[in-house]
Amino acid sequence: MKKEIVVSGIRSTGYLHLGNYFGAMRNYVKMQEDYDCYFFVADYHSLTTHPDPKDLKANVFRVAAENIACGLDPNKVTLYVQSDVPEVTELYLMLNMMAYKGELEKVPTFKEKARNQPDNVNAGLLTYPVLMAADILIHKAVKVPVGKDQEQHLEMARNFANRFTSRYGEVFPEPMPFNFGNQLIKVPSLDGAGKMSKSENVNATIFLADEDDVIRKKVMKAKTDQGPTEHNSEMPDYIQNLFLLMDLVCAQETVDQYKTAFNTCTIRYGDMKKQLAEDMVNFVRPIREKTIELHNNEALLQKILKEGAEKARVSARATIEEARKIIGINYY
Ligand code: ADP
Ligand code: TRP
Repeated sequence: MKKEIVVSGIRSTGYLHLGNYFGAMRNYVKMQEDYDCYFFVADYHSLTTHPDPKDLKANVFRVAAENIACGLDPNKVTLYVQSDVPEVTELYLMLNMMAYKGELEKVPTFKEKARNQPDNVNAGLLTYPVLMAADILIHKAVKVPVGKDQEQHLEMARNFANRFTSRYGEVFPEPMPFNFGNQLIKVPSLDGAGKMSKSENVNATIFLADEDDVIRKKVMKAKTDQGPTEHNSEMPDYIQNLFLLMDLVCAQETVDQYKTAFNTCTIRYGDMKKQLAEDMVNFVRPIREKTIELHNNEALLQKILKEGAEKARVSARATIEEARKIIGINYY
């Protein structure tokens, strides 16, 4: 039986973190067994906010290394760099005719980025969801493993696909966001103010490259209070966040034990944070070490990415030919 097609990408804007891991990469690693997977480094997307040529290559190679260190097997998936597959940009151009200025201007991620960089509100920022749709539709993906913050972009990709279908005919299936737990995930930052992120909240984000002591320091700084004074009190959101993080890296019985301690007012947040820090350290260490080893082997990474691009282009070329033909671009 033909396997379902899966696409997802991560921008090369910095070091990967626990949000990327639990929102996206954990699913990638599970999906590689049963799906036809295309995973890529979204370097063009990163230029909308991080245009510095000096950082680009190192970031691209590190994202690739971190993906492999987390368990992606380049023999099972197609791992490539977005800019190595120019067919994506051709489809992006076609899909721009399916996207309306008004709807693009309303996208919250666009508004937020425009606010963060008022001197560089470039058209690439505005059409970011169109390029993302092209990434997905170029391989006719039906499942897209992403974190909760990408839900709206996925909805837009479906809208562009459907408009293309009603104008020209069926080339693209509808891509759906995917997470093994069904609900998409948002990993909160340690200060409780938003999500862990590559470029914001860096002191409240645990990176897969963080040294053991850096992790301990960040976790110990997380906000707590004196603890509850009444049994079964409502949990403040910053404590809920800590429990959410514990759910990701600690054993279930450890989490249960601290929940009981909270409900019976015997909780010691200092101990809880120490436990959380140690479990995070143990989780991150092997990934960090493997990433360093891979990142030092540029020849191997180059080989993997070049082979990935070749495989990705076969699928991309077939889709572009179909799209050109149905649009009427077949003159000779
Ligand atoms: P960032 O927002 O850190 O720059 P990207 O935009 O490149 O990261 O996101 C890559 C993937 O990681 C996407 O699928 C995104 O939904 C997911 N992701 C990023 N941050 C989080 C988070 N804090 N919680 C859950 N998923 C996240
Ligand atoms: N926009 C995504 C993010 O910021 C990254 C991305 C680009 C992506 N193209 C994609 C994710 C295609 C899934 C599929 O996280």
